[in-house]
Amino acid sequence: MRVDIVTLFPEMCEIVLKTSIVGRAEAKGLIETHCHQIRDYTKNRQKQTDDCPYGGGQGKVLFAQPIYDCLRHIQAETEPVKPHVVFLTPGGKTYDEAAARRLAEYPCLTLVCGHYEGIDERVIEETADEEISIGDYVLTGGELAALVVADSVLRLQPGVLKSPECYEDESYWDGLLEYPQYVHPAVWEGREVPEVLRSGNHGKIAEWKKEQQIARTKERRPDLYERWLKNHPEEDMK
Ligand code: ADE
Repeated sequence: MRVDIVTLFPEMCEIVLKTSIVGRAEAKGLIETHCHQIRDYTKNRQKQTDDCPYGGGQGKVLFAQPIYDCLRHIQAETEPVKPHVVFLTPGGKTYDEAAARRLAEYPCLTLVCGHYEGIDERVIEETADEEISIGDYVLTGGELAALVVADSVLRLQPGVLKSPECYEDESYWDGLLEYPQYVHPAVWEGREVPEVLRSGNHGKIAEWKKEQQIARTKERRPDLYERWLKNHPEEDMK
């Protein structure tokens, strides 16, 4: 999979994408990432990327033209594949693991970061396949949001994590939160690792993990628990 990020701060994105699991996956050739500087596509002498909006209001709005030209440049590079284009905006649809799994299927994904007050709506209308928000709060720019989307999508690519169990086991995969984890020592600050995990009884361990997942989800995320129960009606009988 190839992910392109269109931004005024490519260095900020590059450092994250070159680090840790995603960075190693790229070094191995399992995935490809590119960060593009919007300013490089301006056509005015001052390389200005934004200005005050029509109708007034706080802050500045990014021009349509440099973003459009940058997207055209990316599309020329990925030909014959047309990238799936996502704008990161606080007004987009809320992101979740189901969206990550859906986006992970595209061979080329382009993430466009807004900054300041926003982006000229016309370039969104012209080029966006969708708009995504990572949550109900406002960031200073779309970079952190684009990195959240890139990370969650790239970890699902074959070979990036050791095995599919690595992501199937984790929170949200089956709609339940994760069970608590422990590593040695068996007693730390007077706190003991639950006996069952040291029993070597794999059946009992699996049962305990599932119970913990269900109990945690019910307590911390009743919304997720209700959804999960609908898909597992047999669990309601227990
Ligand atoms: N840009 C600013 N805030 C954002 C958010 N919550 N999600 C996506 N992009 C954003």
